[in-house]
Amino acid sequence: MNQTIAIGSDHAGFELKGTLVRELTELGYAPLDLGTDGEESVDYPDFAHAVARALKAGKADMGVLICGTGIGISIAANRHPEIRAALVHDALGARMCRQHNDANVIVFGGRMIGSEVARDCLDVFLNTEFEGGRHQRRVAKITPS
Ligand code: RB5
Repeated sequence: MNQTIAIGSDHAGFELKGTLVRELTELGYAPLDLGTDGEESVDYPDFAHAVARALKAGKADMGVLICGTGIGISIAANRHPEIRAALVHDALGARMCRQHNDANVIVFGGRMIGSEVARDCLDVFLNTEFEGGRHQRRVAKITPS
């Protein structure tokens, strides 16, 4: 079965979200678009929480989030203990956040990144495995007990 990828953005990420939904479809994934649905001003935490809850409920395998800078929506998503959301600007970051951090959500700043770079990052993110080993020990320490 195709991997399901939950994707959400605020108004500032709406245009890039459309590009990435098309990219996911072309790459053979099943995008689960959780909004927003237009350019009208909305609040980025609502979409961070929607994507986080979809992953937690097992409705999606990985997530994509976009706001203007990628910062606010990352902060909100990372309030969920089961989410490791990584704000990425280039393919190296996209690869490292999988290999070392086992990131399950990739985040973009829609006002910061070009659509070709974001598409490339998304492809790398979805095709890179977590290395485990010493990184597993560190990832296990992220959420304080
Ligand atoms: C919206 O104007 C903007 O604040 C938001 O998209 C994001 O950049 C917040 O971190």
